[in-house]
Amino acid sequence: QEKRLKKWFIGSIDQGTTSSRFLIFDGTGNPVASHSHEFQQMYRKSGWHEHDPQEIVDSVATCIEEATKQFVAMGHDVSDIQAIGITNQRETTLVWDWETGEPLHNAIAWPDTRTMGLVRELRGLEGADDLTELCGLPLSTYPSSVKLVWLLRNVEKVKQAYDDGRLAFGTIDTWLLYHLNGKEKRTFVTDSTNASRTMFMNLHNIKYDDKLLKFFGLDRNKLHLPKIVPSSCPDSYGSIGFGPLKGVRVTGCLGDQSAALVGQQGFTPGSAKNTYGTGCFLLYNVGEKPVISKHGLLATVAYDFGRQRKPVYALEGSIAVAGSGVKFIMNNFGFITHSHKISDLAATVEDNGGVVFVTAFSGLFAPYWIDDAKGTIFGITQHTQRGHIARATLEATCFQTKAILDAMEKDSGHKLSELAVDGGMSNSDLCMQTQANIIDIPVNRPAMRETTALGAAIAAGFAVDIWKEFDELKQINQKDRTVFNPDISEKESTKMFRRWSRAVEMCRGWER
Ligand code: G3P
Repeated sequence: QEKRLKKWFIGSIDQGTTSSRFLIFDGTGNPVASHSHEFQQMYRKSGWHEHDPQEIVDSVATCIEEATKQFVAMGHDVSDIQAIGITNQRETTLVWDWETGEPLHNAIAWPDTRTMGLVRELRGLEGADDLTELCGLPLSTYPSSVKLVWLLRNVEKVKQAYDDGRLAFGTIDTWLLYHLNGKEKRTFVTDSTNASRTMFMNLHNIKYDDKLLKFFGLDRNKLHLPKIVPSSCPDSYGSIGFGPLKGVRVTGCLGDQSAALVGQQGFTPGSAKNTYGTGCFLLYNVGEKPVISKHGLLATVAYDFGRQRKPVYALEGSIAVAGSGVKFIMNNFGFITHSHKISDLAATVEDNGGVVFVTAFSGLFAPYWIDDAKGTIFGITQHTQRGHIARATLEATCFQTKAILDAMEKDSGHKLSELAVDGGMSNSDLCMQTQANIIDIPVNRPAMRETTALGAAIAAGFAVDIWKEFDELKQINQKDRTVFNPDISEKESTKMFRRWSRAVEMCRGWER
């Protein structure tokens, strides 16, 4: 069996907030080739965050080309690649001309807060209180819906296309597929995990909901919305239309946080994972019925493997800033020359020296939802060194994870006994030890941290019967995991968290 699986390969496109990647996994879940490419982040105004839609497609095409070259150079044949999965940054909003395929604006990236005023206005409208029950998401600057409304109100070209019935809306998955399929065989689809981040989809029946669309003032007859299909699907996503993998079928598609849950094999209710990427996202599997949070979390589709399987839901705690905080102190303060050096800098000091950094660059997301908070550093004295600020930057994500776990315990009535982690910042032993100390439970890290890409490969592999049951995945990525056990007293960690919570309260109302 192992021999057979080693001969089957699956490609995985991982289109994240700051970089695109393409990985090729064998059937045992081992990555054999990969390439990644960073692309431009545009911050044209304070609070704005955009991507160039064409650059996103090009970056993915480059990654496919380079990783495939490596694969072939290793003696493999392109025809050994059975299928391709896609995973992507969620909520990021794209609009294009239905007739020409031309983008009508830059992509508005998920952390963008230009919609702050709009969100306040929408919160005052009739029906605003009923949205979360229907779609699982609170009204905030985060989902795609408000970004689309902003575009319609502020960009003439977009409004015109809508009035003419030419406006196509999509998240990154839809945009990428539309272009990667090539002109002749274009698809216009999204999977249910991505659709559950738009605020247009009813979480209970996985369909667009007229009540939701009406709330945002959208007319389904004027707007082209991608068809919602399962995350694992043999025939909905078309195939790659050009380049070295021309003709290879795309059979899996998941939002990146869902993909990471799948990659960590969080298939049983009660399992959870925390991914430290550009932001940080904790997903907790709640089973086949959505749980609408009462404590500031999101309800979302965890994964939807189609065929006879029902969609599985998750409670999610979303943190807007994790790796982007590290990038900030590298690019804007010049404290380090490479992101991975943050750990060394943080290790130059024993503790945070009394510094707390509330990295609220996009306001604060779960469980606080303070949209007018701004990044603030507290506790600076003459004693403060760069190392203290580096430590406080890492700790900010760890504290928010603690706040999310507390909320999750209240919503689910269940306390996690261990937290599975992955993503860039999880490479830092210092950060993961700090995380274990702050949440007071062990943190469990796999040896192979590309779990997001692995999750998309798994979804794709299921659709082409490389695997048929979740049980068959049991061996994947289980060897050489590292466990970080808490090594400070509960009293100490409570004291640290109390100070963080005070700092969060002091951040409120900055824009008022
Ligand atoms: O919801 C946004 C999320 O999907 C972005 O993920 O890994 O790019 O921080 P990441």
